[in-house]
Amino acid sequence: MCGILAYLGKEPALPILLEGLRRLEYRGYDSSGLAVMEDAEVLCRRAPGKIRVLEDRLADAEWQGSAGIAHTRWATHGKPSEINAHPHSDCRERIFVVHNGIIENHQALKEQLQQRGHQFKSETDTEVLAHLIEEYHQEGLLQAVKEALLAVQGTYGIAVLSADHPGKVVIAAKGSPLILGIGEKGIWAASDVCALVSHTREVVYLHDDDLVLVDSEGYQISNLHSQDISRPKRTIDWEIRDAEKQGYPHFMLKEIHEQPQAVRNAMRGRLLQAEGIPKLGGLTDVWKQMVDMERLFIVSCGTSYYAGLLGRYIIEESTDIAVEVDLASEFRYRKLNFKEGTAVLAISQSGETADTLVAIREARRKGALILGLVNVVGSSIARETDAGVYNHAGPEVGVASTKSFISQLTILYLIALSLARHQTPSLSERQSFLRELISIPDKIQQILDGAAHIQSIARRFSQYRNFLYLGRKFNYPIALEGALKLKEISYLHSEAYAAGEMKHGPIALIDEDFPSVCLAPRDSSYEKMLSNIQEIKARNGPVVAVGTEGDRELPKICDEVIEVPATHEILLPLLTTVPMQLLAYYIAEERGCEIDQPRNLAKSVTVE
Ligand code: M6R
Repeated sequence: MCGILAYLGKEPALPILLEGLRRLEYRGYDSSGLAVMEDAEVLCRRAPGKIRVLEDRLADAEWQGSAGIAHTRWATHGKPSEINAHPHSDCRERIFVVHNGIIENHQALKEQLQQRGHQFKSETDTEVLAHLIEEYHQEGLLQAVKEALLAVQGTYGIAVLSADHPGKVVIAAKGSPLILGIGEKGIWAASDVCALVSHTREVVYLHDDDLVLVDSEGYQISNLHSQDISRPKRTIDWEIRDAEKQGYPHFMLKEIHEQPQAVRNAMRGRLLQAEGIPKLGGLTDVWKQMVDMERLFIVSCGTSYYAGLLGRYIIEESTDIAVEVDLASEFRYRKLNFKEGTAVLAISQSGETADTLVAIREARRKGALILGLVNVVGSSIARETDAGVYNHAGPEVGVASTKSFISQLTILYLIALSLARHQTPSLSERQSFLRELISIPDKIQQILDGAAHIQSIARRFSQYRNFLYLGRKFNYPIALEGALKLKEISYLHSEAYAAGEMKHGPIALIDEDFPSVCLAPRDSSYEKMLSNIQEIKARNGPVVAVGTEGDRELPKICDEVIEVPATHEILLPLLTTVPMQLLAYYIAEERGCEIDQPRNLAKSVTVE
């Protein structure tokens, strides 16, 4: 939610900032802007809309300055417009600030500042920061930023440039991700490593309350109480091509096609096949507590929540742990008293989702063991958990989550199997399960190879306005995920139900204009799904079914059938998810939608 970037080094900042902004655009895309220090003056340009509009406005800029800051916005306070685009400046237009986060007490601060004569230009919460810094600017840039931050409540990742202090950039983080990149040609700070990995792979993950002064000498980290802070340097283990489209028309399609590899990466180095058990190194330190665990809460949002829902089915299937799954945004409203033996597992691709962060902080306050399943290394959720597992799915840029979901499911299977070995399954059952899991990437590839059939179904169905998604048991969360994929990228109305619920209300919607997507592979709920499909057909509803390869019944009663290879019932979601994603993708493509950057959305949601 908003991407920020800063650079100070030996090269002209402008092209570096524009390239970085393009890579951060997935974080917000309603307006953008940048500022560059040019001969003791700060030059700033902003534009509404996508970054290409800003690029057009900068076509004539021959700025050579080698220090600058940049921002791509997802609006919270104030409409998407040029005036509300960042950077924001003080009254004298000498201090420029880019900000990701929310200043909660901005209204009170704004009134105080106005009483002291400050003139505001925008409707944003961020602008108070520029004016607060202005109040202290004679104390030096670092001190002025510190004083300003001591006055604010809320969250921020900021970068500040001041014409009064050339050759310096000040960075600060609290509740918003910021990563420093340390390279031969300078120092970067960005909301996501994808904006700096083309320049350097040496990074420092900033923590809450870190304040950084970057100048020609390098960088120094301190905190708001002027204590020096030391943070370790790390090396990023992926390359810039991982964050590029590599010939695909959209990141979403590329990421769908990366799923066989995402499953392999989630398992790599984590399977002890002879013993039939996974080994999740990140959980070693808390394993004893996990084995004794009686109750597990899974907290997450959106797609990650649906992964959690499946997690409940699969952990309960193989252990006697009672699992509850909560939307992270609702978790805090539950009056829960955690007894010993309670753990909370946060699932998050970005590791920055504010609702999920708040939920784990609440759980920690109540004394639960906090676990994480996170894709982005070094992210806030990863740092705030007691132990956890990384997805290693690589960067996911498309706003619609795809490969991170498949990867989350894979790891949930590994967690369930690790816990299950203390219960019932025999060695041969565990080995057979692992063998089947290892075969999943090839089966996903088989589905991807048949994408043209799904595309032709999408063509046929893209003109409908409403869709019902139905599934049972392990495939119920996949129906929910399928409906979310369709609505977020095609703006069509779609809703999902456990198929058994259809007769309790949704069936009233069914007619010839209201198609249903039914997950009906050959599993223990197959017969019941067939009955549900018959009920839909009896009311003239069109049906697209996802079934097991070779099924002879479904083609007799459905309008279209998408086949997936056979596998263990419990593993079917790893396969049935893929047609859901492709169907949504191709329908959105047919409808000419902006697939990677759907309206109103942002990849990581850092506000509550
Ligand atoms: O980064 P997270 O997994 O915590 O994000 C949670 C949701 O915002 C996210 O899954 C969202 O629903 C998806 N991008 C939708 O495809």
